[in-house]
Amino acid sequence: MNTLQKYVLAENVHMSFDTKQGKFVALENINLKISKGEFITLIGHSGCGKSTLLNLFAGLLSPTSGFMFCAGREIAGPGPDRGVVFQNHSLLPWLTCFGNIHLAVERVFGATESPLQLKQRTLEALALVHLSHATDKYPHEISGGMKQRVGIARALSMQPNVLLMDEPFGALDALTRAHLQDELMKIVTATQSTVVMVTHDVDEAVLLSDRIVMMTNGPAATIGSIVEVDLPRPRDRMALANNTRYHSLRSEVLKFLYQKHAKAAA
Ligand SMILES: Nc1ncnc2c1ncn2[C@@H]1O[C@H](COP(=O)(O)OP(=O)(O)OP(=O)(O)O)[C@@H](O)[C@H]1O
Ligand SMILES: [Mg+2]
Repeated sequence: MNTLQKYVLAENVHMSFDTKQGKFVALENINLKISKGEFITLIGHSGCGKSTLLNLFAGLLSPTSGFMFCAGREIAGPGPDRGVVFQNHSLLPWLTCFGNIHLAVERVFGATESPLQLKQRTLEALALVHLSHATDKYPHEISGGMKQRVGIARALSMQPNVLLMDEPFGALDALTRAHLQDELMKIVTATQSTVVMVTHDVDEAVLLSDRIVMMTNGPAATIGSIVEVDLPRPRDRMALANNTRYHSLRSEVLKFLYQKHAKAAA
């Protein structure tokens, strides 16, 4: 198996946190090989450890034991090769929407491109998420969904090899969500990015993924099962509505979540 077939890799990863009540084991025995250009979604009940796993790939956490690799190198911290969209939009409050994206663009392309090109990239990223009208607004002046879109634009503007997204469309209305899902599929096809995305939405997982990684309930969560989504691309949401394979994949994920790993309401 070459580096392209195990581009992003978790090997025997365990993650525990020290809490006031003692050690809390969040993840155990996580083994996952992600190929370059693959689109992976992580799905599982609330609190099972999806964000924790994503933060491990981002290098924001390091595993208690085990190894994480990206492009053949051990993940030792965050890097511009991995763009992150956080579950709770994390914009710098003292910068405008433009400023938040421009900062990321400058970090990645500042050494090689002119100020005009950097500005152009920033404006294009804002246009992509339909936020050109909010260019000069500050985070406290925009809605939660808009903040989330700035976060998505920021990650995409860096053109990272790996996109790590934590419920990026969770706070959006259905139309905006569908638009961004379609845009994301186009961008990923064009850039050949590798994507790991957390979602709660089974339809979204089937529409976007090459593989759906389904996690068991925590504590000590692990990968319960993986569904290969063998639907041809490009995928069209309207056409899929009448596709029997789409519906059987969808029920496979639903069965995992609501029968095999049902979780009582909190
Ligand atoms: N820094 C931390 N210290 C202690 N426990 C933590 C820490 N971070 C996460 N946990 C615990 O690890 C478990 C997994 O948390 P995580 O945020 O990864 O879940 P999740 O699957 O992303 O949930 P959700 O779908 O609600 O976002 C939870 O029980 C959480 O309380
Ligand atoms: Mg989470």
